Amino acid sequence: MKINNLTVIGAGNMGGSIVNGIIKSGYLPASSIFIGAPREATRMQFESKGVKAYEDDRQAAKQSDTIILAVKPSQTKMVMDIIRPELSEDKILISIVSGLYLDKLYDLSGKKSKVFRLMPNTAISIQESMTCIATNEKSEETISLVQELFDQLGKTIVIPEDMMSSATVLASCGTAYALRYARACMEGGIEMGFKADMAQFMTAQTIKGAAQMLLENGNHPEQEIDKVSTPKGITISGLNEMEHNGFSSSIIKGLISAYNKAEKK
Ligand SMILES: NC(=O)c1ccc[n+]([C@@H]2O[C@H](COP(=O)([O-])OP(=O)(O)OC[C@H]3O[C@@H](n4cnc5c(N)ncnc54)[C@H](OP(=O)(O)O)[C@@H]3O)[C@@H](O)[C@H]2O)c1
Repeated sequence: MKINNLTVIGAGNMGGSIVNGIIKSGYLPASSIFIGAPREATRMQFESKGVKAYEDDRQAAKQSDTIILAVKPSQTKMVMDIIRPELSEDKILISIVSGLYLDKLYDLSGKKSKVFRLMPNTAISIQESMTCIATNEKSEETISLVQELFDQLGKTIVIPEDMMSSATVLASCGTAYALRYARACMEGGIEMGFKADMAQFMTAQTIKGAAQMLLENGNHPEQEIDKVSTPKGITISGLNEMEHNGFSSSIIKGLISAYNKAEKK
C-alpha cells in the first residue's frame, strides 16, 4: 500500500518544499498533488508544475486521503475550521506546525482523522530533511505510509511526542547551529588566505564528508577524530585550543538553553 494522493495546505517554505520534493522524487505525479493557497501567484506557480491549486482549503482537502497542514501556528485554527468537514476516520492528517500537540490536533480535526505531528528541517528543500514523527496512531501500516512519504524528503524517525522539543532543538534548530559552525570556518579560512566562495565550498564539502562518514559507517565521532589527530600534531593543537575556549561546552549549553525555551512554550 502507498499514499495515492496528497493535499498540502500552506505552500510556503516548508509546504512548497514538500510538494516540490515529492514531485522530484517521482513518488507521486504532480497530478496527484493538491494545494490550498490563498495567493494567486502561489497557485499559478504550482499549477505550472501540474499541481491542482485551490483558493478554498476545503476544496483542496476534499481531493486527498492524506492532508499535510503546513501553515503558521497562528493560521492553524482558522484553517482547521475550514477543512474539518472534509476529514474522516480513514484520512491521514499530518501537521508540521511547530508546537501543535497531537491531542490539540486531534480535537481540531473533530476527533476524526489519524493524526501525525512531524518536525522536518529546512533541508527538506533539497530532500535531505531529518524528519521526526510522533503519533498516537496504533496501525503500523499507517505509520509506515507516513514514514515512506517523508523518506522521499530525507530521513525519518518515529519518536514519542514528549521527545518533540528535544528533536526540534537537535534536528531543526540544529541546521542553524551547523551553519553557524560553517560560517566560523569560513571566517577562519578567509583569514588564512582563501576567498569567501572558496572557503565556503571547502567548508561545506568538509562538513558533508564528515557527516556522511558518521551516517555510512556509524562510527563514534571520536573514532574518526583519532584518525586525523597525530600525537603532537596540528589537528589536536587546534582541537584542544577550541576546547580550552569552551567549544563542546558552549554547544551543549546552547542546546539545553534552546530546549528549555522550547519546553516553556
Ligand atoms: N521553517 C522551518 O524550519 C520549520 C521547521 C519545521 C516546522 N515548521 C512549521 O512549518 C509551518 C510553515 O512554516 P513555513 O516556514 O513554511 O512558513 P511560510 O513560508 O510562511 O508558509 C506558510 C504558508 O501558509 C500560507 N497560508 C496562509 N494562510 C493560509 C490559508 N488560509 N490557507 C492555506 N495556506 C495559507 C501562506 O501563504 P501566504 O504567503 O500567501 O500568506 C504561506 O505560503 C509553520 O507552522 C512552522 O512552525 C517550520
